[in-house]
Amino acid sequence: MTSNPYPLGLRLHGRRVVVVGGGAVATRRVPALLDAGADVLLVAPELTPALRARADAGRLHWVPRRFVPEDLDGAWLVQVAIDDPIAAASVSAVAAERRIFCVRADDRTAATAWTPAVTRHGPVTVAVLGGGDPRRAMTVRDAIRDLLAVRLAPDAIAGRPDASTGTTGGRQAGRVALVGAGPGDPELITVKGWRLLTEADVVVADRLVPGLLLDELRPDVELVDASKIPYGPSRAQEEINQILVDRALAGAFVVRLKGGDPYVFGRGGEELLACAAAGVPVTVVPGVTSSIAAPAAAGIPVTHRGVAHEFTVVSGHLAPDAPASLVRWDALAGLHGTLVILMGLKNLAAITATLIAHGRSPQTPAAVVQEATTGTQRVLRSTLGEVAADLCAADLRPPAVVVVGDVVGALDG
Ligand SMILES: C[S@@+](CC[C@H](N)C(=O)[O-])C[C@H]1O[C@@H](n2cnc3c(N)ncnc32)[C@H](O)[C@@H]1O
Repeated sequence: MTSNPYPLGLRLHGRRVVVVGGGAVATRRVPALLDAGADVLLVAPELTPALRARADAGRLHWVPRRFVPEDLDGAWLVQVAIDDPIAAASVSAVAAERRIFCVRADDRTAATAWTPAVTRHGPVTVAVLGGGDPRRAMTVRDAIRDLLAVRLAPDAIAGRPDASTGTTGGRQAGRVALVGAGPGDPELITVKGWRLLTEADVVVADRLVPGLLLDELRPDVELVDASKIPYGPSRAQEEINQILVDRALAGAFVVRLKGGDPYVFGRGGEELLACAAAGVPVTVVPGVTSSIAAPAAAGIPVTHRGVAHEFTVVSGHLAPDAPASLVRWDALAGLHGTLVILMGLKNLAAITATLIAHGRSPQTPAAVVQEATTGTQRVLRSTLGEVAADLCAADLRPPAVVVVGDVVGALDG
C-alpha cells in the first residue's frame, strides 16, 4: 500500500542542495532552488548553456565531473536529474544512507520526495502533488492558478485589512502600483501587472489601456477614468497625482494602469514623485511599450542584423519648430537606424519635411501602425517623402506609431 505524501514547505535559504545532472531537467529545477536562496552544488560533467551562465555568474557551485558520495556532505536535499537509472540509484542510495531526501527525475517511485507543480501569487505559494502523476498535478495547478488570477478572492490572497484589528495580514495598506498595461492586446500585460490589478481597491486607468482588462475587475473596485484623449481635453496631471495620493493615504491599494510602459511618455515619473513626496510607497511594473510592440505587430523589427543597429523613440507631439520642443530633429536626420515616432500624426508633415531637409532620404521606408495589437489594427506602408500625404488619404488616426527606416521592409519576402 502506498501512503499519502506529507506536504512541507522547505526553507532552503543558505542550505546546501545538491543537483546531480546538468541537462534539461536540472535547467528547469535549479531556478526555483536559487529563488529559494538555496546553496546549490551542481555535479555534472557538462552543463546546458543556461546552467553554465548561472555558474559563470557565481549563482551556484559547479563541480564538472560525475557524482561521488562526498558531494552530499552537508546537504539537506538532493535532486537527481539524470537519465541513467543505475547512476541515479547509486546517488539515491547514498542519500538514503545519510537520511537526505532525494528527488528523482528518472523514477518517481524510487524517490523519497516529490517536487510539486507550483503557482505563486505574491506571498502565496500553491503546490500540487498529483499522486505520482505530474501531468495531473500540472492540470490541477493550472486550474488553481487561473482561478486565483482571475476570480477567486484576491483579497484573501493578498491579505485584506482586518476590520477588527486594522492589520493587513501581510499586505501593505495604502500603496500605489504604476502598472504598464501593454499596447492594447489585453494579453500583453505582464503576469505581475495582472496580479496587482486583481488585488487593487482602486484602479486609475488611461484611455489607452485595454478595455478588457477593466472588464475583469471585481465589482467593488473603484474605477477612476483618467482619460487623456489626444488633442482633446485632458484631466490635469496634478489631479491624477492627487487621486493616487488621497486614495492610498486612505488605506487603499491603488493601481495606476497606463498604456504601454509607464515611463515611456507615460508621465509615470511625475506620479512616482508625487507619491514619494506624500510618503506613499510605490511599485513600478514595466509594460510592453507600443514603441516596440506596434512595429512588431506590423511585422517590423526595430533592429535587424545588417540593417539597423539602433532605434530611437521620439515624441512628435510638438512640431519641430515649436519653442518648447526638446527634440534635435536635425541630429535624428543624420542617423541611419530606426526612428519610432509616438504622438506624431498631427505634426507628421512638418516632421518628415524637417528630416528630409536635414539629409534623411525621402525614399527611406516608413510605416504607420494604428491601434496596434488590437482587433482594429491598421498598417500603412509608405516612404518618408510620402507618408504624411498617404496618412491623410488613408484617414489614419491616433493612437498610432510612425516607423522610419530600412527595417520597415526588412522582413518582406
Ligand atoms: C502618451 S503616449 C503613451 C505611450 C505608452 N506609455 C507606451 O509605452 O506605449 C501615447 C502614444 O503611444 C502610441 N500608442 C499607444 N498605444 C498604441 C497602439 N496600440 N498602437 C499604436 N500606437 C500606440 C501612440 O503614438 C500614442 O499617441
